Amino acid sequence: MKKTLIRNIGTLLTCSSKILGAPNILDSMGDLSIINNAAMLYDEDILWIGTESSLPNDMVYEELVDAQGQVIMPGFVDSHTHCVFAGDRADEFARRLRGVSYQTIAAEGGGILNTVHAVRAASIDQLAHQGIVLALNAMKHGTTTIEMKSGYGLTLESELTLLKAIKVVSKEVPLRVISTFLGAHDIPPEYRHNPELYVDIICKEMLPAVKEEQLAEFCDVFTDTGYFTIMQSEKILNTAVELGFKIKVHADELSPFGAAEMAGSLKAVSADHLLYISQNGIEAMIKNGCIGTLLPGTAYTLKLPYAPARHMIDSGMTIALASDCNPGSCFTENMQIILSLASTNMGMSIEEAIMASTLHGAFALNIGDKCGSLEIGKSADFHILNTDKYPELLYHFGINHTQNVWIKGKKVV
Ligand code: NIG
Ligand code: FE
Repeated sequence: MKKTLIRNIGTLLTCSSKILGAPNILDSMGDLSIINNAAMLYDEDILWIGTESSLPNDMVYEELVDAQGQVIMPGFVDSHTHCVFAGDRADEFARRLRGVSYQTIAAEGGGILNTVHAVRAASIDQLAHQGIVLALNAMKHGTTTIEMKSGYGLTLESELTLLKAIKVVSKEVPLRVISTFLGAHDIPPEYRHNPELYVDIICKEMLPAVKEEQLAEFCDVFTDTGYFTIMQSEKILNTAVELGFKIKVHADELSPFGAAEMAGSLKAVSADHLLYISQNGIEAMIKNGCIGTLLPGTAYTLKLPYAPARHMIDSGMTIALASDCNPGSCFTENMQIILSLASTNMGMSIEEAIMASTLHGAFALNIGDKCGSLEIGKSADFHILNTDKYPELLYHFGINHTQNVWIKGKKVV
């Protein structure tokens, strides 16, 4: 691949961390490791990075790009989405605006199960198409890596179809796609009378089949009131670990459930949502190096209290930010909005929000050694903003600040 030199970068947010590989020892939360008046050489990976004035005279390159004094930063790593689905739930959104709760709608057979019905009736092509459209739109807003979960099929066959659709998406889009099996997203209608039987099917049939076909790197469980109990979640996640999956948890999203404590004790890579996290949950996660992935778009959409990000950061937890893009509780693929919500509603600084949506997102997907920051040897995944002042990204909200995007060194927007 050809070598390209980008010059005249007004502000280069490298987001590099001195603590690579040890995200729980946190000194990277508010430090963007900025280089002013910078230049960067890359092919697929970053080959050189530094100030214009330190650029060697004999630097060899085949293409030159002028950044015109603007900001360059790592692409967003959106480490939590459900963006392969079918149908829409705008009607549920309208009902919630009239005061009906997410839980009430779910108890009536809506919510996740609403989407499950639509997914079971959809073809793999329709599912992949939805994922492709959302991933490409995320990319136009600066996302270069995206995680996608199954969880709207809830039968062996339809969960495999969703994961195969995610695989199709990963082949069709330039973004790096990481796949997660979320068969334990809800109890399917067929097993409402006997949830334990469904847990058995997940452990004995679904997880081994997903492993056999190598369709997912992570296993996730929705551990909350009305979904999976702590005991059921532990059974699924322990089986997943035995089979070689890395694990994540939808934890304490709708109620204080002790799910963060469980995620910590199981050494999950991340516990996500955490709107109702307890002090014990915070301590268990920090002790075990479990990343707290916060999804403020969900609290915003469901009008729930935001996760206590400030307290979690001050306690020493590594925080990642992600979109949770899904048709029910948060329908956006725009990470820039998520950063704004994180700063205005969760007390995160601009710098903390940027680190959380880049390097820490990569840690939450176990790929912090490959992407998430701009450092020699890491993937050339970055975007140039249409501004020379990086705070604009959050301050001037609701518009797209991403001008061009590069993934693995290739200009894709
Ligand atoms: O992350 N909590 C579970 N899953 C999603 C909601 C999915 C849906 O409502 O379709 C979430 O909020
Ligand atoms: Fe989610």
